[in-house]
Amino acid sequence: MRIAGALAILVLLSACAAAPARTQSAPGWSIAIHGGAGIIERPQLTAETEAAYRDGLARALAAGAAVLRDGGASLDAVEAAARILEDDPLFNAGRGAVFTADGRNELDASIMDGRAGAAGAVAGVTSVRNPISLARAVMEKSPHVMLMGAGAEAFATEQGLARVPPAYFFTERRWLQLEETLRARGAPIPARPEGATPSPSAALAPLDDHAFGTIGVVARDQNGHYAAGTSTGGTTGKRWGRVGDSPVIGAGTFARNGVCAVSATGTGEYFIRLSVARTICARIEYLSESGKTAADAVIRDALTAIGGDGCVIVIDAEGAPAWSFNTPGMYRGFETSETAPVISIFADEP
Ligand code: GLY
Repeated sequence: MRIAGALAILVLLSACAAAPARTQSAPGWSIAIHGGAGIIERPQLTAETEAAYRDGLARALAAGAAVLRDGGASLDAVEAAARILEDDPLFNAGRGAVFTADGRNELDASIMDGRAGAAGAVAGVTSVRNPISLARAVMEKSPHVMLMGAGAEAFATEQGLARVPPAYFFTERRWLQLEETLRARGAPIPARPEGATPSPSAALAPLDDHAFGTIGVVARDQNGHYAAGTSTGGTTGKRWGRVGDSPVIGAGTFARNGVCAVSATGTGEYFIRLSVARTICARIEYLSESGKTAADAVIRDALTAIGGDGCVIVIDAEGAPAWSFNTPGMYRGFETSETAPVISIFADEP
């Protein structure tokens, strides 16, 4: 009897070993990205600008999806897609970051691995080209979760991460946003940063100045592992070392295998107060809600009730991508192993 039992286990084990990496019952992969939300409506975007945003989102989504399609890890997909958005001057993260009141760029980012809940974050870094990669290094190469300012920069040096001069982050439209913000406050306008391009002779329109920037990526890979990442320049004209929700695990970013991956953007102070990302995951885990139901409950109901604005992207327990926003528009995209890529901006799009 004992021998028969052992034989049965051996047969079962060899059948499992011979099975293809993905069977019909194995989880597929899925990815969602966002590039911010806000008062983004058709009359405000020229056809050219809209096409540029769609192109930037599509390139990032394709890079993350390629990692997942090839059997890669969700963490790698999140980092790959986030780096493309960080390198794109259209989005308020990395290269396209907004300016602080004194004319600097202070960048925040975080990443979370849904397998065991490891997480990494950085706040207020000024010379790291891809803060998402620094956040990942904090998670994987340090005993800490969050590093800030000069210490984070020193860690980036130790880790050999790409560094850039302040002028790398200079974009004329973000500078114009800063000037407008400071003028409205009656505050002094700082000198253009060293190395910045000279003032243009023709007037430029400030870029999507009614949008909360920030980029984010959430993914589930073929092995069912979840990951989430978020990166931002924060808010235009921020002062006093202000840090929003993006680098705060549980507010801007959260991931737990089999439950959720969430990345948020919006008025960070409100997202921190509501622990938005963690609360959405808790609703999925404890109330068995879908990602869409949980996200709407937190964004459309709870966040709206306290006066906050913004959006989230979610991969839920079933691996389904979802999002929610209480603003007129949201730069977003998603793709799964079963569905073609979708890029959307306006509220009336899928
Ligand atoms: N949600 C980005 C920030 O508040 O900084």
